Amino acid sequence: MQKLIIVFIIGVSFIAFMGCEGQSTLTEDDPVKRGEYLVTVGGCNDCHSPKIEGPGGIPLPDSSRLLSGHPQDMPHPAWYPEDLQRNVLANTNAMLTAWAGPWGVSFTMNLTPDKETGLGEWTEEAFIQALRTGKHQGQPNGRDILPPMPWFNYREMSDRDLKAVWAYLRSIPPIKNQVPLPVPPANAPAGE
Ligand code: HEC
Repeated sequence: MQKLIIVFIIGVSFIAFMGCEGQSTLTEDDPVKRGEYLVTVGGCNDCHSPKIEGPGGIPLPDSSRLLSGHPQDMPHPAWYPEDLQRNVLANTNAMLTAWAGPWGVSFTMNLTPDKETGLGEWTEEAFIQALRTGKHQGQPNGRDILPPMPWFNYREMSDRDLKAVWAYLRSIPPIKNQVPLPVPPANAPAGE
């Protein structure tokens, strides 16, 4: 009887061990998988992926061009100081990829590994520094990264997690899409 119990305990421990093992390979050990998980729960697609119209007009990420940023030829919204009196801080487009506000107009970056228009030529170091410091391309003297990019939340990720996000972003298909430069506040007329 005692032997049976010991065999039973060893068996259960083994199964529990295998269970943990399975989970950890999914999100802990494989940086690309962990990065995909972090990009999903971190909401990167909400702003960095063009959208298709879902049920009830809800925007859903367009799976054919995930994380490719604001579509290059799409007109951007405008924002006027009067908007603030109506309690409107920002206007966005139907894809949630262009954002007009007191900072001018910001466009979400192409995060795919395309060499000319995406993260292709970036280093892991520049990527991590950008998210940690809020400076464009992580350059100490670079311009501030504009709203609504919530880098001050992602800054809290561990080095390991930021590296995993980077590894995932390197693994997705490159998409050529030249996102426009930000428009400064004075040059943001309606509908251009
Ligand atoms: C609420 C919208 C929003 C979300 C969510 C978001 N971004 Fe952004 N992101 C932006 C905008 C807008 C810009 C462009 C800012 C600019 O031009 O200064 C940007 C720019 C960037 C840049 C370029 C920064 C630079 O150096 O100029 C990187 C890298 C980036 N985002 C990564 C991410 C990652 C990774 C996630 C998810 C973990 C994410 N973003 C989630 C809106 C968002």
